[in-house]
Amino acid sequence: MTRVTPSVAALALVALGGMVATTSRAETNGIRFPEGFERGVHYGTVTRGNIVEELYANRETVEAVKAGRPIPSGAVLTLVDFRDGRLFRYVVMEKRTGWGSGRSDANRTGEWEFQWFTPEKTVKSGEDLARCQSCHNSQAKNDFVWSFDRLKNAN
Ligand code: HEC
Repeated sequence: MTRVTPSVAALALVALGGMVATTSRAETNGIRFPEGFERGVHYGTVTRGNIVEELYANRETVEAVKAGRPIPSGAVLTLVDFRDGRLFRYVVMEKRTGWGSGRSDANRTGEWEFQWFTPEKTVKSGEDLARCQSCHNSQAKNDFVWSFDRLKNAN
C-alpha cells in the first residue's frame, strides 16, 4: 500500500490551490453568502431605470474608509439588485489577506474576490467572474470599490 507522507499531501494541496486560484472562469471561491449583511451599514441606494441597488458594508469597512485607513481583511460589500421591484440577485465582494495571490496581475483585484448569488442565495453557475474583476479594476485607486465616496459619507 502506498503511504502518502503528510508533507507530500500538503504539497499536493498547495499545487491544487494554485490551480484553482488561476482558473479564469472560477465559479466558486472563498466567498460564502454573507448571512446577516443587512445588520451592517446600509450606505447607499443606486437607481437606474428599472434597477434599484441597495449597498451594504460591514461596520469595520465603513469605519476604516471614513478614517482614511486601508480597507481591512474580512471586508464584505453586498449589493442587492432589484429589477422591476423584484429581487434579482446579490453581488458580493470580499477581501481577505492572501486572496488573489495566485492570480496574474491582469486577472487580479488586490485581495478581493467576487461572487454572484441568486435570490435563493446560491452561487450562480457559469458566471464569468473575471468580468467583475476587469470592470472593478478601473477603481484600483479606491481599492477596487466603485461606491468608495458613498462609504466615506456613510453614517
Ligand atoms: C461593467 C462594469 C461592472 C461589472 C462587470 C461589475 N460591476 Fe460591480 N459595480 C459597478 C459599478 C459602477 C458599481 C457602483 C454601483 C452602481 O453604480 O451601480 C458596482 C458596485 C458593486 C458592488 C458594491 C461595492 C462597489 O464597488 O461599489 C459590489 C459588491 C459589486 N459591484 C460586485 C460585482 C460583482 C460580484 C460583479 C460580477 C458578477 C460585478 N460587480 C460586475 C460596475 C461593475
